[in-house]
Amino acid sequence: MEEKKYKRTLVTSALPYANGPVHIGHLAGVYVPADIYVRYLRLKGEDVLFIGGSDEHGVPITIRARKEGITPQDVVDRYHTLIKDSFKEFGISFDVYSRTSSKTHHETASEFFKKLYDNNQFVEQESEQYYDEEAKTFLADRYIVGECPRCHAEGAYGDQCEKCGTALSPTELINPVSKLSGSKPVMRKTKHWYLPLDRHQGWLKQWILEEHKEWRPNVYGQCKSWLDMDLQPRAVTRDLDWGIPVPVEGGEGKVLYVWFDAPIGYISNTKEICPDTWETWWKDPETRMLHFIGKDNIVFHCIVFPAMLKAYGGFNLPENVPANEFLNLEGDKISTSRNWAIWMHEYLKDFPGKQDVLRYVLTANAPETKDNDFTWKDFQARNNNELVAIFGNFVNRAIVLTHKYFGGKLPKRGNLQEIDTTAINEFAEVKKQVESYLDVFRFRDAQKEAMNLARIGNKYLADTEPWKVAKTDLDRVATILNVSLQIAANLAIAFEPFLPFSAAKLRGMLNMTECKWGELGSIDLLAEGHEIKPAELLFEKIEDSVIDGQLQRLADIKKANEEAAKAAEAANWKPEAVGAPVDFETFEKLDIRVGKILDCQKVPKADKLLQFKIDDGMGGRTIVSGIAAYYKPEDLIGKEVCFIANFPARKLKGVESQGMILSAMDKDGKLVVVSPSAIVAPGSKVC
Ligand code: MF3
Ligand code: ZN
Repeated sequence: MEEKKYKRTLVTSALPYANGPVHIGHLAGVYVPADIYVRYLRLKGEDVLFIGGSDEHGVPITIRARKEGITPQDVVDRYHTLIKDSFKEFGISFDVYSRTSSKTHHETASEFFKKLYDNNQFVEQESEQYYDEEAKTFLADRYIVGECPRCHAEGAYGDQCEKCGTALSPTELINPVSKLSGSKPVMRKTKHWYLPLDRHQGWLKQWILEEHKEWRPNVYGQCKSWLDMDLQPRAVTRDLDWGIPVPVEGGEGKVLYVWFDAPIGYISNTKEICPDTWETWWKDPETRMLHFIGKDNIVFHCIVFPAMLKAYGGFNLPENVPANEFLNLEGDKISTSRNWAIWMHEYLKDFPGKQDVLRYVLTANAPETKDNDFTWKDFQARNNNELVAIFGNFVNRAIVLTHKYFGGKLPKRGNLQEIDTTAINEFAEVKKQVESYLDVFRFRDAQKEAMNLARIGNKYLADTEPWKVAKTDLDRVATILNVSLQIAANLAIAFEPFLPFSAAKLRGMLNMTECKWGELGSIDLLAEGHEIKPAELLFEKIEDSVIDGQLQRLADIKKANEEAAKAAEAANWKPEAVGAPVDFETFEKLDIRVGKILDCQKVPKADKLLQFKIDDGMGGRTIVSGIAAYYKPEDLIGKEVCFIANFPARKLKGVESQGMILSAMDKDGKLVVVSPSAIVAPGSKVC
C-alpha cells in the first residue's frame, strides 16, 4: 500500500476550448478518468477538490466568431454552456466549472503576469511579424495563408499545411495573404515578453527526470525529449484583441498568450469555489496536485506551467500528470473540422439515460498507453455481452429471486459451503486489486477488476442454481441469495467511481443508505431482514438497427468530407501549361474527323480498352481506345466522336486499331470523349 504523505488532493482537468462541443475523445482522455479518480477519493473519505472550466481565449475562437459574424464572447457563451451541461449530464463531478472570461480569472492572470514582470522573470524581445496594413493588426499564424513551400498546395496556413501536414512558420509561405483583408501582409517589428525556460532547465531536469520517474512512460518520455534539447524562451504575449490585456507598459493592443492564462484558470476557479482557503489547495505542502490532460497538453503542464509557478514562488508543483494518448473513431483520427467525432450532446440525444454505457466503453478502451479506437460494434458488444449479460443479469436474478422466495427481505445466511467461501474469498480480493490500479491511474485495469466482481457473482449463481435448489431446500437458497445480494451491494460500491448512475440505481434497489469504499469486500453490507426494492433493469440490450444508424451517420459524414475534398481540389486545379508552339502546316498534317459509333465492346482480357466500330463515311473502321474505365460500352453507341483518321494502324491486345478517338482529360485524370456540338455527317473534317 502506498504511504499517504498528503492531506488533500487538488485534481485539475484540462480546460476545454470553448470553440466547439466536447466529444468522446475529450471524455475518454481527460474527464472520465479524472472523475473516476475523484469519486474514488471521495468514497475513501479523502479531502479532494475537482477543478474544471472552459478555456475561452485563443485565436481559434476569434476565427470561429469571424466566420459566423458574431463576437468571440458570443462564441464562448454558447459553447461554455453546452460543454458545462454535457459534463453535468455525464456525471463529471466537478466541484467548480468556471470560465477564463470571468472577472476573477482576468484579475488573477493579470496579477500573475504583473508579478513575474516585476520580479524580472521575463525577457523582452523584438521580432518581425506579419502585419495587415488594411485591417491594422498583426496576424496570428492561422490568419495567414499561402502556397505550401513543401507540396505547393494553395491555402496552407501560417502554422501548418493541412494538405501535406508539414508544420510551417508564416514566413515560409509562398505568396502569403492575410485572411482578414485579403491583402499582402508586411513585416513589422513587435515586442513580446518571453518566459525564459532556459533559466528553469536545471531544476526541471532534476525534478522530472530524477524525482518523477514514476510518471507514465509517455509523459516522462515526452518531458525527457524536451529537456534533452535546450529549452528556449517562449513568448507569453500575443498581438491580438481577444484575451487578457497585457497589464504592463508597452502592452497596449496585446494580450496574454492563451497558454499562459489558461492554466492559471485552475487557480482562478479554485478561488471562485474557495475564496478563503484557495491557498491551502495551492500552496500547502500537504496538498497533492494532479493534472488530468491529453497528450497534446504535456509540455504545458509538465514544463511551462511549473516554470510559471516556480517563477511566481510559493506554489506547489504537480505530483503527477496522468496524460492520455488519443482515442480514434472507427480507425480515423477524431477531427472537429471534419465533424469526425461523437459529440457528447448528440450522444445524449441518441442514447438518453445511457451515460454509463459510454463511460464504461471509454474506460474499457482508455488510451492510457497508446492511441486506441472507438467502434460502434465494440460499444454494442461491451454493452450487450458485459453490462447486460454479466452485471445486469446477475443483479436482476439476485433481486428477483429474493422477491420470489423471501418477499424482498434479505434471507438468513446459514452454514457456508465450499462453493460459497470460494466466491467470498475471490471477491474479497477485488478491493485490493481495484485499488492497486486506481492508485497508479490505471483505470482500464481497475474497471476490469471491478467487473470481475460481477463475473464472480454471475458464476456463483450459475453454479449454485438457487432456482433449482428451491424445490428441495429453501434454507440453502436463503444462503445463496444472501451471499448474492452481498456481492450486489459490493458492486454498488465498486462501480460508484466508474458508473455512477447505475451504481446509484443499484443502491436504490438494494435500499442501501451507506456507500463507503472501506467496506468493499465485506459480506455484511446488508443485514438479515433488510428490505430491498423491486428489480429494475440496470442495462438494456442495444439492437443492431441502432448501431447501423450510427454507422450510417458516420458513413454519410465520410462521404460528405470526400466530396468537400474533391470540390476543394477542383477549385485549386490549374490546367497544364500550354505546350510548345506548332506551325500551321504541322497542324494540317493531322486528319481529324467526326465518326459515329455503331458498336462498342470491351476488349477481352484488357480492362482498360474498348473496341469501337465507327461509321467514318468511308466504309467504316475499327478503333481501340483506353477509356473502358470511364464509360459503359452501351452508353456510347450512337454517339458522334472526333478521331484522328491518319494514324498508322497498330495492334492493341490482338485487335487492330485504325486511328485514335480524342478525349478531354479532366482534372482528376478522367477521360471524356470529344463530340461535335451538333450532328454532322460521319467523315466530316475537324479544322
Ligand atoms: N484548451 C486546451 C486544450 O483543449 C487545454 C487547456 S488546459 C489549461 O488543449 F491548463 F490550460 F487549462
Ligand atoms: Zn503542403
